[in-house]
Amino acid sequence: MSSKPVALILLAAGQGSRMNSDLPKVLHQIGAAPLAIHALRAASVLEPEKTVVITGHGADEVEKVLAKHDDQLTFARQTEQNGTAHAVDQARDVLGDFEGDVVVLYGDTPFVSGDTLERMAEARDTADVVVLGFDAADPGRYGRLITKGDTLEKIVEAKDASPEELSVTLCNSGVIMCDARTIFDLISRVGNDNASGEYYLTDIVGLARAGGMSAAAVTCDEAETLGINTRAELAAAETAFQARMRADALENGVSLAQPETTYFAYDTVLGRDAVIGPNVVFGSDVTVESGAEIKAFCHLEGCHVSQGAVVGPFARLRPGAELEEGAKVGNFVEIKNATLAEGAKVNHLSYVGDAHVGAGANIGAGTITCNYDGVFKHRTTIGAGAFIGSNTLLIAPVDVGADAMTGSGTVVTEDVPDGDLALSRVRQTNKTGLARKLMQMLRAKKMKKDA
Ligand code: UD1
Ligand code: CA
Repeated sequence: MSSKPVALILLAAGQGSRMNSDLPKVLHQIGAAPLAIHALRAASVLEPEKTVVITGHGADEVEKVLAKHDDQLTFARQTEQNGTAHAVDQARDVLGDFEGDVVVLYGDTPFVSGDTLERMAEARDTADVVVLGFDAADPGRYGRLITKGDTLEKIVEAKDASPEELSVTLCNSGVIMCDARTIFDLISRVGNDNASGEYYLTDIVGLARAGGMSAAAVTCDEAETLGINTRAELAAAETAFQARMRADALENGVSLAQPETTYFAYDTVLGRDAVIGPNVVFGSDVTVESGAEIKAFCHLEGCHVSQGAVVGPFARLRPGAELEEGAKVGNFVEIKNATLAEGAKVNHLSYVGDAHVGAGANIGAGTITCNYDGVFKHRTTIGAGAFIGSNTLLIAPVDVGADAMTGSGTVVTEDVPDGDLALSRVRQTNKTGLARKLMQMLRAKKMKKDA
């Protein structure tokens, strides 16, 4: 493979009006990540030295959201959308002197694979301009790739094509790879004398050929070049994405009890022999290690589940949940920003947030870490081997020591030293026969009323 440095230009200035949305199109999500991030992730195989995102419609929001995902991005604004060549030209200030290749990608085309981009990079060894094409089932309004033998002669937009050119089914995906200086040189010669009055990036192929340069098409499956224009296409893309993630997980040795009910995020990592029950939803940033088990109906996000840990059924792990080896989280339990050390157990109906639970500690049913005072969040620590009685309220900030216990129903407002038992409830008294008497009184009252 060619080892030239690579820069990416991601086109993301278009409005996407057919989404019928206030959210800029490239920020609509598949697998919990914006479309634009999918497009960039695949290109990471090329180890780009720079990535320039061309923004326009909703630029402030697009830049803010994408920068959060990737702080290495550079943004260039295209204030008027005068066509794809004009869009790429906005990267000239940043990449005009770049020594290496640029790859143009679309922010609304999330599925172009790393393999395909690598094949394009290889094709660059023998061609000055490389275009990614696909054989379209319905060529419609795609640009057509006009070839002669192995040479790509030009790209004609559907609007400008002759009937003969329109009969070509080899279409332009939009992905183009070319030396940086060459592409900006070619772009400065692109005009807008065409059916749309736009500066077409596609014109650089004909210009390159006229100047004696070579051009070639690399092809891929149409599924990879799928562009998102409508909500229906977004939904179909989500379905396709989930299908691929499920197939990958199964192939990697993950057990999915009912694969079609497991929902993945773009970055979900499941170890070999992890066991995933039916109806489990993964938000972003989840790692489940080899051999861990997630039972039915769990929702996980921003968490790490170690080997031998068991979660669910019906559990929720929120960002910052860290389950060490053999930890257990049972039904109707929510864990947020909390570590459960080795073998710790929270088996029923509990909320553990902003906490550290020591190794082997047992948290009884109904325990709540009261971490929020309405303004600030506070931490709770529970020592190794501690036993927290059912329905304990831990008013944070508070520390419960190693091997300490709390009685059921205790409201812990002060630290509990190692090995101590905390009790904070009223001593029980039994009133002889009072229950029966009370009932008789109440029933008599009701009879009188009903009469
Ligand atoms: C483009 C190609 C066409 C190809 C098709 C594949 C051109 C002239 N045509 O057509 O050959 O078959 O994609 O989907 O390149 N954009 C900007 N600024 C602009 C114009 C576009 O950022 O001024 C962005 C859009 O947001 C979009 C991408 O570039 O992500 C493609 O633009 P679009 O208008 O959808 O191009 P098509 O007409 O579909
Ligand atoms: Ca398009």
